[in-house]
Amino acid sequence: MSQTSSYVADRPIPVRKGPSGPDANTPRYWFDNDPFMSHFFNAISSMFPEGERFFIRSVRNFSDSISDAQLREQVRSFVQQEAQHFKEHDEHAALLSAQGFRVLDRLNRFAATGLNWTTKHLPRYALASTVATEHVTAVFADQVMQRSDLWLEPMVPEMRRLWRWHAIEETEHKAVAFDVYQECIEQGSQSGLWLRRFAMAQVLMGFFLEAFMRHSLLLIKDRQFSPRVLWNGMRQMWGRQGLIRAFHPEIWQFFRADFHPWQLDNVELLDGELEALRTDGFAAA
Ligand SMILES: [Fe+2]
Ligand SMILES: [Fe+2]
Repeated sequence: MSQTSSYVADRPIPVRKGPSGPDANTPRYWFDNDPFMSHFFNAISSMFPEGERFFIRSVRNFSDSISDAQLREQVRSFVQQEAQHFKEHDEHAALLSAQGFRVLDRLNRFAATGLNWTTKHLPRYALASTVATEHVTAVFADQVMQRSDLWLEPMVPEMRRLWRWHAIEETEHKAVAFDVYQECIEQGSQSGLWLRRFAMAQVLMGFFLEAFMRHSLLLIKDRQFSPRVLWNGMRQMWGRQGLIRAFHPEIWQFFRADFHPWQLDNVELLDGELEALRTDGFAAA
């Protein structure tokens, strides 16, 4: 039994309705009045809905081949959690669109076409990409929760609740797609291992390029693509306590043959963050 199975046996993956997210009264620069960081999180947020619909389709493609009853149950919760996420981030995307950032809608339509094609024609690769992206997301969530003083506290309350809730749920279900991949594709095979590694290499390039492009477009559209804003932002990303610098060592673990998402055991952190979310006014946590 994998480590995740014993974790989930004690704690089923809960399905909650999301907290109420941003609305027209939310400030444009909702992260500490900082355009660079607000648009960084806006760029990531805008990538979630099409990505999450893709993850759901990719995992569902294999749901009939899963024999483990507990894993089938986890897949149901995974689908429901991701469906709540894309609903909330769709609403945030609509708000960004109303603020004039319609370029994101065009990018999302383009992304949806490619992702739909992949789940239809390359289901094994789609699942491998899902597993890789879920790891990137889980490591990102872990960093955001570990340094909530740097990455969550500066947000306005409605955004803080949204991002904390999403980070918590990404952690709760971080091994589901991986376990499906292990049971249905990898099963100790070299071909399955290399497909997963190849998918991660592609995801790392694609994810960061796409995030960088979206982030730049938002800053340009907002006339915030200035040397001062970029310099301050780069320090937050790559400086001593930078988000990306802290984030990358865990990413590489994925390439190990014996990798499992719960080797990064952050259950205690998760409990602390659930408590923080309740204290912050989200009763469903
Ligand atoms: Fe999600
Ligand atoms: Fe996820």
